[in-house]
Amino acid sequence: MINRQKYCVANFKMNKTIFETDQYIKKFLQLSFYNEKSLDLREKCRIVICPPFTSLNFKNKYSFRTGLYSGAQNINCNKLGAFTGEISAQIVYEAGARYVILGHSERRDHYNETNEEIKKKFSLCYKNLLSPILCIGESLDQRKNNKVEKILRTQLSESLKLENCLIIAYEPIWAIGTGETATSKIITETHQMIRKILNDIGFDGQKISILYGGSVNRNNAQELISLEDVDGFLIGSASLDHEHFYDIYKFIEESV
Ligand code: PGA
Repeated sequence: MINRQKYCVANFKMNKTIFETDQYIKKFLQLSFYNEKSLDLREKCRIVICPPFTSLNFKNKYSFRTGLYSGAQNINCNKLGAFTGEISAQIVYEAGARYVILGHSERRDHYNETNEEIKKKFSLCYKNLLSPILCIGESLDQRKNNKVEKILRTQLSESLKLENCLIIAYEPIWAIGTGETATSKIITETHQMIRKILNDIGFDGQKISILYGGSVNRNNAQELISLEDVDGFLIGSASLDHEHFYDIYKFIEESV
């Protein structure tokens, strides 16, 4: 069995002020009994917190290693320039981000983000030493009409750059923020399908970490992380409570 890096990623979306994020991190660190031993353990499961842009520098507030990584929820597909209200890869890196969520379904839906734009964002991530977390997933209609493979294949082949550093988050749109988690069977089948597609388009699918996202919470995390093809989670609503997020993280860590 290949040992893939495990991840526990919090996506705060448009929640939490600077003050609230600071409080959250402080409480999370207290809960995880900060010490060197737990830091080593945390390398088994990387914790990435993706707060609003204003809090990307949360790590700068600590004089010690926190074992937490900062991630941005998006970047613009251009390097720099006249794009009012947007943010670049270089800016988020300098602010403290080391990861970036790309192609979240909310961005594809609300802001018409395309695979072509996501591909440009990939290049900018690599140039700026950011690790991309690519979100892919199908709608309920697409699943009902047996289009899952076609959709995922298109999302992957049209947006990926052939580079080693890559994390995938499989997030079925119908499971995001709905309280309806995909079944273990669906997740296993789909993650295996994604690995096969990755192989087909020139990657080594067995080596790439694939996270599941969509209504993950502390009640279902233990079962889901026991699935062989699940390498961690991308968590929205349940990540907003530091105790819930910590419990989910512990389940991943214990599974390694
Ligand atoms: P959720 O969101 O955990 O609230 O379903 C997941 C996501 O949007 O990444």
